[in-house]
Amino acid sequence: MKPTIINFEPLGDARGSLVAIESDIGIPFPIRRVYYIFGTKEGVERGFHAHKDLQQIAVAVTGSCEMILDDGEEQKSVLLDRSTKGLYIGPGFWRVMCNFTPDCVLLVLADRHYDESDYIRSYDEFLEWKKK
Ligand code: TYD
Repeated sequence: MKPTIINFEPLGDARGSLVAIESDIGIPFPIRRVYYIFGTKEGVERGFHAHKDLQQIAVAVTGSCEMILDDGEEQKSVLLDRSTKGLYIGPGFWRVMCNFTPDCVLLVLADRHYDESDYIRSYDEFLEWKKK
């Protein structure tokens, strides 16, 4: 599945808004891990890896950042700038996250536990892996 925007429905009332995300409901995988990136220093770029199997959805719950995805042939940049805007990222995409606003909290939902063996951390290795 290609990178896709998943818009979460805000459940709003006079008090404000709320987004609920449930495993396998409205998202294409069971959630096994949640992590968030915050306090990112100015000018920092992170990521620089791809995953062999992992599926993820990233949401900037506050602030914004840019997610650059590369399938080995072309790059696509997605601005994550809304707490209702999720970006689905399947396996096989080299990713770089950049342009974090100081207040950015990037929430990531993942379908697997942390497993370093699922990472490809060299871009050359990624291109080789894509050819297989
Ligand atoms: P890292 O992979 O460098 O983050 P990113 O690629 O998103 O910039 O992760 C930073 C550290 O956190 C690294 O030591 C691995 C560890 N980590 C976990 O222990 N569990 C996790 O779920 C994640 C995403 C990272």
